[in-house]
Amino acid sequence: MSSGYDELLTATIQHLEGLKEHGVRHVHVAPETLAALSQPPPRRVAVPAPRSFQSSVSSVQLPVQTPVSPPVQAPQLETENLKLKTFTELHARALACVKCPHLASSRKNVVLGVGSLDAELMFVGEAPGADEDAQGEPFVGAAGQKLTQIITAMNLSREQVYIANILKCRPDTPGQASGNRKPTSAEMATCIPYLHEQIDLIRPKVIVALGATAVEGLLGKGGGIMKLRGHWQTYRGTPLMPTFHPAYLLRNQALGEKRKVWEDMLATMERLGLPISGKQRNYFLKG
Ligand code: URA
Repeated sequence: MSSGYDELLTATIQHLEGLKEHGVRHVHVAPETLAALSQPPPRRVAVPAPRSFQSSVSSVQLPVQTPVSPPVQAPQLETENLKLKTFTELHARALACVKCPHLASSRKNVVLGVGSLDAELMFVGEAPGADEDAQGEPFVGAAGQKLTQIITAMNLSREQVYIANILKCRPDTPGQASGNRKPTSAEMATCIPYLHEQIDLIRPKVIVALGATAVEGLLGKGGGIMKLRGHWQTYRGTPLMPTFHPAYLLRNQALGEKRKVWEDMLATMERLGLPISGKQRNYFLKG
């Protein structure tokens, strides 16, 4: 008969395989968990029943199964396992979603998100573009490369943060061979529950909203990214920093605009307690 430890291990492996099938590439595992996993499974040995018990039922002599050591980190593994399970279920629901039939029929992929499920920092963009739709991963096109540069400049990696969008499907562009369009309010309202679930599951310490659509989707405020950027907001108790969308920085190469986004990232790093070097403080400052 398998032990609780074995069952937990099997369930964990199944969830990891499920996540892999759904395109999840990175899973954050706490160092203590890794250390615990590298230990041999707790051995179970039969020890004689206490004398008083033996004497009264000497003919039965059932061995009492007592683990030599308690299952290591079981509560933490169980929590992580539950998170993976919930996330896998969420992913499966999103993959099968047809709430926007026009998007379900035009999409190549549902683009749920990428990164660590334990991320302290979450970036939220607008919607997948053609590249993201083709690859099934958010922010992999030109704007995505800009976002990756920003993340790298913060001394972080895409694997350490979590990246998602307001919309999980690419907004269709009927009759057009290329190009992207902004999601409609109806599409955003339909899709936003998936993002709420992702945020509830990941529970980042800080959210960065990339551009006006992300701000509108998360805060219900429209049109004011120029005024809002750089000013802390709150999304259901989580600090939220609005900043320009990386695509804006591709269109507007002015040093001053890059510096604004960078100042928002410095504020984000400070909020997260991340170290900031002198060099980082001075990025994009003239002379
Ligand atoms: N722009 C977005 O807002 N999201 C993406 O995933 C790609 C481009």
